[in-house]
Amino acid sequence: MNPVFYDPKISYEENYKNGPPLFNANIKPLKRKKYTTYKLFGFDVNLPFGIPAGPLLNSQFMKEAFNFGFDVNHYKTQRSIIFPCNSFPNVLYVDIDGNLTIKKTKKPLIGKKSTKKSKIQFSITNSFGIPSMGPEIWQEDMKKALSYQKSGQLLIASVVGTIKNGYTEEDYYNDFAHTAMLAKETGVKVIEINLSCPNVANEGVICYTPSAVESICKKTKEKVGNIPILAKLGYFTKDQQDLLEDVVKKISPFVHGIVAINTIPAPIVDNNGLQALPGPNRLISGVCGASIKWAGIDMVRRLNLLKERFNYSYEIIGVGGMMSPVDFTDYIKAGANAVQSATGAMWNPLLAYQIEEKIYL
Ligand SMILES: Cc1cc2nc3c(=O)[nH]c(=O)nc-3n(C[C@H](O)[C@H](O)[C@H](O)COP(=O)(O)O)c2cc1C
Repeated sequence: MNPVFYDPKISYEENYKNGPPLFNANIKPLKRKKYTTYKLFGFDVNLPFGIPAGPLLNSQFMKEAFNFGFDVNHYKTQRSIIFPCNSFPNVLYVDIDGNLTIKKTKKPLIGKKSTKKSKIQFSITNSFGIPSMGPEIWQEDMKKALSYQKSGQLLIASVVGTIKNGYTEEDYYNDFAHTAMLAKETGVKVIEINLSCPNVANEGVICYTPSAVESICKKTKEKVGNIPILAKLGYFTKDQQDLLEDVVKKISPFVHGIVAINTIPAPIVDNNGLQALPGPNRLISGVCGASIKWAGIDMVRRLNLLKERFNYSYEIIGVGGMMSPVDFTDYIKAGANAVQSATGAMWNPLLAYQIEEKIYL
């Protein structure tokens, strides 16, 4: 299997500089089929499908994603300061039999450099720590990426707050709003607040703290005004249903959309049982791909039920283990307004066409 949107064999910095491996793969974009127009967050999109925050590191990657028929694409999460990437390697395969249940995440999983699983059955772990080139670089580059959108395509900016020296909680929450404002200055039409990255050492996964997410979403809304804001959540277990309901109730006045899920954290070791990814706080790393589809679908279903029960107006982007057209249909049936694939798309540039074909044949 050859990756096309991120090469795990080289560093993040080299990927950033080289652009997608697709450049060297001699694969050309196909002609689009006839499509219908969908509405998403008030905008027209051709196919409510694309790539979530992650694999598309900069405008070179965004350009190819739009060219290959991915219509709803996130620019990788950015910060208000320059921030380094976790040490190499950042992506390893993790072979899991069936679903990565929460029970399975309690035991170490083996991270490997290769897999025998098929293009629609594999899983990986990724651990970047949300690197950022800093606003001076990414704002200009995001403007460039926006210029690559064609009719019916939507670029979404993803932002996160950063804890700086001497920061209070309030300062940290304000930094989410400030970074969202930096994104808005580029002319982007939709902004996602990343509340769910499991691979950041100090900042932790904030989406399980209702008061924090309420404050962040409120501050961001006040700062950026009318532009649609999305909240990216991680998986909530069945035992966390009350917590999920509280979080959704607190953020729903401020957000137009909820994106779920992020990766599922688990301990990742090598063949000798030692931490596979080098550096502090990297034993636990986010797992994504086929084995987490069950969790993405489950969250979309539950978010949709809450929406109906409490008359919330948010739209839902379903993410997690979206590897093939069948997965797309499953997500739509579960109540997603749009669907995105990170791991699946990283290895399959034709995924959007394959979905389009299934829908419009
Ligand atoms: C290479 C890679 C980088 C990622 N970086 C981010 C990120 O910067 N921000 C974010 O919110 N999620 C990030 N994610 C998580 C994805 O957006 C997605 O939620 C997760 O991978 C589950 O989808 P999948 O099973 O299709 O991969 C990343 C995922 C991958 C594979």
